Amino acid sequence: MKNIVVLVSGGGTNLQALLDAEGRGEMPHVDLTLVVSNNEKAYALKRAQEAGVEGVFIKNDGDFETRLTELLAERGIDMIILAGFMRILSADFIKDFEGRIINIHPSLIPSFCGKGFYGLRVHEAALARGVKLTGATVHIVTAEADAGPILMQKAVEVLEGDTPEILQKRVMREAEWVMLPRAAELLAAQL
Ligand code: GRF
Repeated sequence: MKNIVVLVSGGGTNLQALLDAEGRGEMPHVDLTLVVSNNEKAYALKRAQEAGVEGVFIKNDGDFETRLTELLAERGIDMIILAGFMRILSADFIKDFEGRIINIHPSLIPSFCGKGFYGLRVHEAALARGVKLTGATVHIVTAEADAGPILMQKAVEVLEGDTPEILQKRVMREAEWVMLPRAAELLAAQL
């Protein structure tokens, strides 16, 4: 079993999907022991607390990575899941966890990804381009944003009348929440 931290910044619905999957026994190689947020107000911290998982807020300043590195070493963390974590990690930090950090991105990479494509912007861009299929991708994190090896993808239909908000919800429900626990288990079982 791998000792895993989830890094979050916001609502934490993907974190919830992970906690629920663990509760159902669907991730036998995953032990979610720690949640770290760079946003004190993140609802994700509440979700962690409710699930009985340690939640830690680390101030989003220049010392963030130093503090995170110390905490992860203290807790003996093996693998990192980025689930709506709104901060780019440095190449140095990533090197220490090479091949052991995954991220979920709400599009089919290489479409609508990289710098500036986050949150609703991704879905706005998909609608503006008129794609009929979008989806989500879980990839290994490397120094270049959204450019690491792809671990898993799931397609989702774009429907007539979709707004960015409606599409975002569908992508979360049909792709992100289903796939992230599966991808976490897949990688944890390989490490
Ligand atoms: C998700 O759409 C995820 O793909 C993206 O940020 C959003 C986070 O949502 N990276 P939540 O905090 O998990 O609800």
